[in-house]
Amino acid sequence: MKIPVGVLGETGVIGRQYVALLRDHPWFKLASTEEAPLIFSAIPNDVAAKLEPPLAKKGIWVISSAACHRETSPVIIPEINPHHITESRLITKPNCATQSFLLPLAPLHKIAGIRSLSVTTMQAISGAGKRGLSASAIHDNVIPYIEGEEDKLETEPLKILEADFPISAHCNRVPVMHGHMACVSVSFHKKLTREEILAAWELPSPLNLPSAPKYPVRYLDEPGRPQPRLDRDLDGGMGITVGRLRPCPVAEWRFVALSHNAIRGGAGNGILIAEYLKHSRGNDFGQT
Ligand SMILES: NC(=O)c1ccc[n+]([C@@H]2O[C@H](COP(=O)([O-])OP(=O)(O)OC[C@H]3O[C@@H](n4cnc5c(N)ncnc54)[C@H](OP(=O)(O)O)[C@@H]3O)[C@@H](O)[C@H]2O)c1
Repeated sequence: MKIPVGVLGETGVIGRQYVALLRDHPWFKLASTEEAPLIFSAIPNDVAAKLEPPLAKKGIWVISSAACHRETSPVIIPEINPHHITESRLITKPNCATQSFLLPLAPLHKIAGIRSLSVTTMQAISGAGKRGLSASAIHDNVIPYIEGEEDKLETEPLKILEADFPISAHCNRVPVMHGHMACVSVSFHKKLTREEILAAWELPSPLNLPSAPKYPVRYLDEPGRPQPRLDRDLDGGMGITVGRLRPCPVAEWRFVALSHNAIRGGAGNGILIAEYLKHSRGNDFGQT
């Protein structure tokens, strides 16, 4: 029998994506928030700060998209840190741009330890929500500021990786519908060869769950890739594409990574967290 789950904010960019991804889900069925043992929440920060904690206090699992609880609740990318999930019923997913570069960096951090990281993002219009930007503001334009975003990119990776290294982030809004791209320059404590990096990106997923891509990271050798229009929908929008790996004269290595902000960076990662909960807790899942 499928588990009834609810969506808060179902008319928004992320909420609509939740509804679409849950339509034929093998384990979950969309229900009203009153009937649900788990709620995917996709509401603005200020509203989430008030509405989500009381739901979690009632014993309902709440998977939050908002930034307001990320300091106090587990921030989960299921391939990287599912062990951070505790008995706390409020779980958050990281910022949508964090997800574009952290999945490729996590296996490298594991073998060599990141020493410093510089990341410049080019973030899609849909990342600003359904009312986020007018067409005239972004047409023929780049906006070199996204409120609060650089702080998130400089803190969330450290919490998820349980690490401490300096991060410098620049976040830009660009005229792309979906897909956040990140240009990364990174140094490690231990020297890594190109072959070692590529081998780390070829590792299969540690998860065997309906929304988990078999290979979370895919390296594209062609010049000029990845590109949002060509690559954001890989593995139903859950795959991260990486390209342009080359030595960096300032750091050690540099590359470009891309993810679908509303799926891997939003609803898809939320559903993957819920799948992990059901898989790891078996019949206890949903008990309040
Ligand atoms: N867009 C992305 O790529 C992305 C990625 C990751 C995380 N996030 C985060 O996900 C959350 C949702 O983002 P979004 O882009 O989907 O925003 P959005 O398109 O603006 O949608 C917001 C949703 O919240 C609802 N809402 C607003 N005020 C509410 C209230 N007082 N009570 C109940 N519902 C309310 C809206 O309902 P109405 O239709 O009635 O206004 C709408 O359904 C935010 O916290 C955002 O930071 C977004």
